[in-house]
Amino acid sequence: AITRHYKFDVLSHNVTRLCHTKSIFTVNGQFPGPKIIAREGDRVVVKVVNHVQHNVTFHWHGIRQIQSGWADGPAYVTQCPIQKGQTYVYNFTIIGQRGTLFWHAHISWLRATLYGPIVILPKRHVPYPFAKPYKEVPIIFGEWFNADTEAVITQALQNGGGPNVSDAYTINGLPGPLYNCSARDTFELIVKPGKTYLLRFINAALNDELFFSIANHTLTVVDVDAIYVKPFNTDTILITPGQTTNVLLHTKPFVPTATFLMMARPYVTGLGTFDNSTTAGILKYDHPNSSLTSNTHKIPLLRPSLPPLNDTSFAANFSQKLRSLANVQFPANVPQTVDKHFFFTVGLGANPCPKNQTCQGPNGTKFSASINNVSFTMPTTALLQAHFFGQSNGVYTTDFPNQPLIPFNYTGTPPNNTFLNNGTKVVVLPFNASIELVLQDTSILGAESHPLHLHGFNFFVVGQGFGNYDPNKDPSRFNLVDPVERNTVGVPSGGWVAIRFLADNPGVWFMHCHLEVHTSWGLKMAWVVMDGKLPNQKLPPPPSDLPKC
Ligand code: C2O
Repeated sequence: AITRHYKFDVLSHNVTRLCHTKSIFTVNGQFPGPKIIAREGDRVVVKVVNHVQHNVTFHWHGIRQIQSGWADGPAYVTQCPIQKGQTYVYNFTIIGQRGTLFWHAHISWLRATLYGPIVILPKRHVPYPFAKPYKEVPIIFGEWFNADTEAVITQALQNGGGPNVSDAYTINGLPGPLYNCSARDTFELIVKPGKTYLLRFINAALNDELFFSIANHTLTVVDVDAIYVKPFNTDTILITPGQTTNVLLHTKPFVPTATFLMMARPYVTGLGTFDNSTTAGILKYDHPNSSLTSNTHKIPLLRPSLPPLNDTSFAANFSQKLRSLANVQFPANVPQTVDKHFFFTVGLGANPCPKNQTCQGPNGTKFSASINNVSFTMPTTALLQAHFFGQSNGVYTTDFPNQPLIPFNYTGTPPNNTFLNNGTKVVVLPFNASIELVLQDTSILGAESHPLHLHGFNFFVVGQGFGNYDPNKDPSRFNLVDPVERNTVGVPSGGWVAIRFLADNPGVWFMHCHLEVHTSWGLKMAWVVMDGKLPNQKLPPPPSDLPKC
């Protein structure tokens, strides 16, 4: 194993898409940002220098951060932000993961433009559990807003405005030919016939889950969230913000007389406005006789067909197919017993509108989102520091409810009073506790799928279903043998999902909906995992350059 050094200079840079030029925050002037590449077992050291007039932090989404909680990155959770002119060095080791993850800014909505791939190769001389691909290609989905990022945030947050709608989806930063003024900004994948390509998909979009297909080509899913899965074939993948998916693409044995569109567009179950546009890229075969690839021949351009926008049964089927390898080399260490059980409702709601303001939520209320009726308030100092130095007083309280305060019919007619509590509430877990968490979607403002992301852990998705979770019946059908292991799971629209994880990583770990607008409205909370007794079970002290609030 080696140490890999990166330098991230946060800079403003002018970027043009859809004929709109705007100044965006970038890493090293690149959009999307630079790729981090490492092998399992390597140490990664990223020196961040902030040159812009905005606080920033970075999160290494899906990296377990075992005993390196100070490098996790969510602002006011594990660190205070890096201010203009300041430097912070993120330092972590990649343990037990191989596949694709990504990094993104983790403050306000800056991940709109500050994101890039993390490629984790297996240890040297350790092969993939599938044939070695001819080439590997990261493909990262994003959203482009013509408006300035700050204006986008303000619109969504002021008085609980409606979710902000992007102007395009992007593939590796490019909207593609289906948008006006965008044909030149098209991602092209040029392939050779008869080869296998490993495509590393990342959904870095702010607010939308995406379906993706390539015309006339089947995809073989082999890895999600940097954990191998049992391979299966599909025409379409579903990928939520915060998820990554590795697929094998077997190209046709001979150069076909067509080019192929690849397309992504949203999976949406909620109410309200959203960007229902489609981003496209082009899959082209490299002809040995290059004159034939020029456009003198009018060769057909084929389009894939994608599931309907609200195809929840596709979503449920797709997630049912995801299974851990669960073999000798890659065992699935699913907790077989449970020390602590939690039942969390996740959903949208409404709060009273502040005096003298007009709010855009239902009946003039203010949009809000919550877990167990608690809408999380961000503290003004980092939770991890407060925890480590024993100064939690006035920063957070440890009374996060382990079930809803007042149970109701979650997927039926909502109760009349859905006003929420605000607070910075956490759950404290003893070291090595085995946790079962049922996440129940609520339909207070319409049933909606929520991609829940847990920092610091992978979890096993042991069960899922529609309607209300039934504690007497559902656990008997849990899969404790080969459930998928991941860091972000879609809580099904009008249903529930059950996950298990082992609290073996001391620190403070954020959990939130990876739809940025829902996080902003309060769909987030934090787990505090205590130190174990042995020296290698303790959170080390903070690095000396940890930023101050
Ligand atoms: Cu990718 Cu807390 O997020």
